[in-house]
Amino acid sequence: MNLDHYLDDDDLVRELRADVHNGLTAQPKWLPPKWFYDARGSELFEEITRLPEYYPTRAEREVLLRHAGDIARTTNAKTLIELGSGSSEKTRLLLDALRAHGTLGAFVPLDVSGSALREAMARIVADYPGLSVHGVVGDFTRHLGHLPSGGTRLVAFLGGTIGNLLPAERAQFLAALRAALEPGDWLLLGTDLVKDPAVLVAAYDDAAGVTAQFNRNVLRVLNRELDGDFDVDAFDHVALWDAGQEWIEMRLRARRAMRVRLPVVDLTVDFAAGEELRTEISAKFRRDGVDRELTAAGFAPRHWWTDPAGRFAQSLAEAVPG
Ligand code: SAH
Ligand code: TRP
Repeated sequence: MNLDHYLDDDDLVRELRADVHNGLTAQPKWLPPKWFYDARGSELFEEITRLPEYYPTRAEREVLLRHAGDIARTTNAKTLIELGSGSSEKTRLLLDALRAHGTLGAFVPLDVSGSALREAMARIVADYPGLSVHGVVGDFTRHLGHLPSGGTRLVAFLGGTIGNLLPAERAQFLAALRAALEPGDWLLLGTDLVKDPAVLVAAYDDAAGVTAQFNRNVLRVLNRELDGDFDVDAFDHVALWDAGQEWIEMRLRARRAMRVRLPVVDLTVDFAAGEELRTEISAKFRRDGVDRELTAAGFAPRHWWTDPAGRFAQSLAEAVPG
């Protein structure tokens, strides 16, 4: 098992400082989502995937249970690359299908969270003897140029994580991914679908309050990395459905007026009572939109599969000459 680092601690700290400076001096205040995922944040996300309200993980697993064999036969992939791999739990269904099909040689998980990646890799290495496992600690918005080449590649981007990018970022990401691939390589893209807003909001505001803890964890990261003094418990978790944009928006709302100091970035930030800090969007999709975005980036959509209840989709798309 080997692990490449495209993000050293200095890079991360520099980026975090820049993001915090930009986001907390903007109006409205915002923070980019990748800072949720320190070791504790990655554990909280795994807890989210087991919540009764959070259907996307189970729905996507149902799609893979039915169609992993089709994916293996269609792609004949030799290398499975996974972006934002996290625990890589569902990915085992793909590894199993590709191994049974006889084409699988290597697995390349990439994640910004080094702790989650190392733990997931250790489990995969133990359970898949003979498989070459090559992890990358990196940022899928910046490091796609480093993906390994040789043999047919299948890039899996699961969990609806593409919905955490803004539309313009999504277009940039898909174009950069296409540029990193060759014609005949494949993308398997998981997208959560537009549905009853009550179901969507519950998935991002669960009764046990795990998602609220996950959202507030980003403030703990800032306290630890930037020597900040956020009173983390003085922020309420907010999840709302934006029907115009068709995305869930996560915010942290200050319960009272607060002054927060972040000495490492030389910043003092004032919050008014009730002021909201935007932390994450999770866009929900329709088939037309996904097909259009894939096509615009140089992918030909070949298959569209959903779970039987029609909650979550996977698109299998082929990189085509540009
Ligand atoms: N694929 C898993 C995890 C989804 S959660 C699943 O389907 O359950 C999103 C994952 O993406 C987390 O593991 C997080 O650490 C990672 N991530 C978020 N932003 C990232 C970025 N910019 N670059 C690389 N990984 C990122
Ligand atoms: N990719 C996941 C999603 O959009 C990430 C996620 C789940 C998330 N729950 C969250 C992000 C709560 C922020 C807050 O579903």
